[in-house]
Amino acid sequence: MPLSKEKKKIQKKILQLRAEIDRHDRLYYKDSRPEISDFEYDCLKSELLHLESLLPEETSQTGPGDDRSGYLLTRKHYLPMLSLENTYNLEEVFEFDARIRKLLATEKDVEYVVEPKIDGLAVNLIYENGELKCALTRGNGVEGDDVTDNVKTIAGLPLAIENAPERIEIRGEVYMDSKIFQKINEERRNSGETLFANARNLASGTLKLMDSEEVRARHLKILLYGLGTGNFLKKQCEIYEFLQKNGFPAQEFYLICGKMGDAKAIIGRLKAMRDRLPYATDGAVFKVNDCALQERLGATAKAPRWAFAYKFEPERAETVLRNVIFQVGRTGVITPVAELAPVNLSCSWVSRATLHNADDVAKKDIRVGDTVIVEKSGEIIPAIVGVKLENRPPGGLEKLNFPRNCPCCGAALVRLAGEVAWRCSGGDCAEQVVQKIVYFASKAAMDIDGLGEAVVRKLVEGGKLKTVADIYALGKEDLLILENFGDKSVKFLLSAIERSKKTVLWRLINALGIPAIGEKTAKDLAHYFRDWDILVAAAVEELENVRGVGKKVAQGIFDYFRSAEDVGLMEKIRQIGFTFADVATHYNPHFSQKIFVLTGALQQFTRHQARELIEKNGGSVVGALSDKVDVLIAGADAGQKLAAAKQKNIEIWTEMDLVEKLSLE
Ligand code: IVH
Repeated sequence: MPLSKEKKKIQKKILQLRAEIDRHDRLYYKDSRPEISDFEYDCLKSELLHLESLLPEETSQTGPGDDRSGYLLTRKHYLPMLSLENTYNLEEVFEFDARIRKLLATEKDVEYVVEPKIDGLAVNLIYENGELKCALTRGNGVEGDDVTDNVKTIAGLPLAIENAPERIEIRGEVYMDSKIFQKINEERRNSGETLFANARNLASGTLKLMDSEEVRARHLKILLYGLGTGNFLKKQCEIYEFLQKNGFPAQEFYLICGKMGDAKAIIGRLKAMRDRLPYATDGAVFKVNDCALQERLGATAKAPRWAFAYKFEPERAETVLRNVIFQVGRTGVITPVAELAPVNLSCSWVSRATLHNADDVAKKDIRVGDTVIVEKSGEIIPAIVGVKLENRPPGGLEKLNFPRNCPCCGAALVRLAGEVAWRCSGGDCAEQVVQKIVYFASKAAMDIDGLGEAVVRKLVEGGKLKTVADIYALGKEDLLILENFGDKSVKFLLSAIERSKKTVLWRLINALGIPAIGEKTAKDLAHYFRDWDILVAAAVEELENVRGVGKKVAQGIFDYFRSAEDVGLMEKIRQIGFTFADVATHYNPHFSQKIFVLTGALQQFTRHQARELIEKNGGSVVGALSDKVDVLIAGADAGQKLAAAKQKNIEIWTEMDLVEKLSLE
């Protein structure tokens, strides 16, 4: 192949990899719902780095992702927050050490501190004159989201330190205790809500909540392991002692590696400690112990030269792929699901794994009958990460073809621009109708006990249900088509349906399955609009005021309420006569649809009372200042938030203003 052709091929692959990595960065950092394991992600990154190194004119763009939410205020770090170079290969640990010795021009052993790599999310705490002034997420490394109020809810984090320099940045990782993570997911499972993928995602989502009281209830934890600006200590391990002395939850499981001959054993000790640590750890971090040497080594634009991580490979197992089924979801998206010979992995039996989408199936070239490698690295849904081609029978196996038509109605599958998913183009085909109604009735939505998938399927097949509104027209005689449904079951189901008419607004919003609206956005919409009719009539710009709702989603909601078929549905829904316990009881133009932040000490109300009054009048109260906030109510001694609100031109009310406006109903 001529050189330029080879070069073009590499360039094309680089572009593809960058786009793929970008997508996974978004899923991981912004949406907190990764599709691939860290290991698969790291493999993509190292492939990209390798290809970029083949073409000297390609300047590498592979920096760490960006976790800024877009709705929280951002602030700059004094010293950038960098990433860590990492490897899964022990040989490379020795190469890292060799590079460090070369840079220091020494043949002698360099002393390292080796400690667990915490699988949480990085934060930077800025203390000024000994007081915690600000807590930031890593963001893009230069500036991060201001999560001060939320970080302050973390038990055991000192809000002040003694004998500190004028300004000191303390860095560490916020995480969620594995036990609390399991408890929260258990509660969600019981109430039919979607589960969080892993403790890291839950910790990350929690830290970015706008309501600090919600954050407090989630019991986040923090572990500190480093300094940004303001380091006055000589050794890395002294930083941990300094932090501990000042009452910080600091890194305490560190080992000193005096010579590289011990590195393997030290990694082994940290790995063996894994299950006893309160946080998830995915590797061992090596840091040059001498701070003067750290200084000499400095950093590249992406990572310090004095530290690197050895990452543990996730748990994997081999099993046989028995079948692949193509499920039709409620929005028509086709999801390939692998059925596996059951295999034990991380202490649980795995018999199904997701194959994500058509690209994933094509890329992996998995065939029924193959021996596949399944991985479960914290994520709840196990994933297939590879095929053992050497186990494929000599005669080969039939290539797995992604269907071109909907497995339910036969309509062509289509792929919308910019989407990886294939969707059924047949409008509401029977399977979509079934799944829509099942979702509507599920615990996370209208919570209609007894209206599960089997019953819904029968009623759809029997022509009794076409849309979710038909549920409320069901009578005794309609239910007679259900097998094993006696008088008692009929009564039970009909009363559950009746009961669901008295609900809270977010449940109905969530239940409709409006594209891109999950439980969280449904709650935010309900909190903001507090009225079904106002929400249905809202303009795009109004919808955009809701936190977490961008232009595209706002347009999607607007279009949904206006699409021909849904207009009919909305009318039917109106006639059902839902009553919502959470809608505003008073209309007050000063509060309606506005977002408030309370700060400082109030004299006449407790915070709780103030919040209730604001909500009753149609407003909502959040904990953190952001661009979406309309009014800051400043009580006595309002400090930093008042200054920030002034800077942002956010309307400011005194407590007197609040009293006045409340009585203006
Ligand atoms: S030291 C300049 N120590 O891993 C970076 N980082 O993958 C120095 N991390 O962004 C960081 N545990 O958020 C350090 N014990 C540890 C760590 C740790 C987890 C995170 C950190 C960093 C990321 C890089």
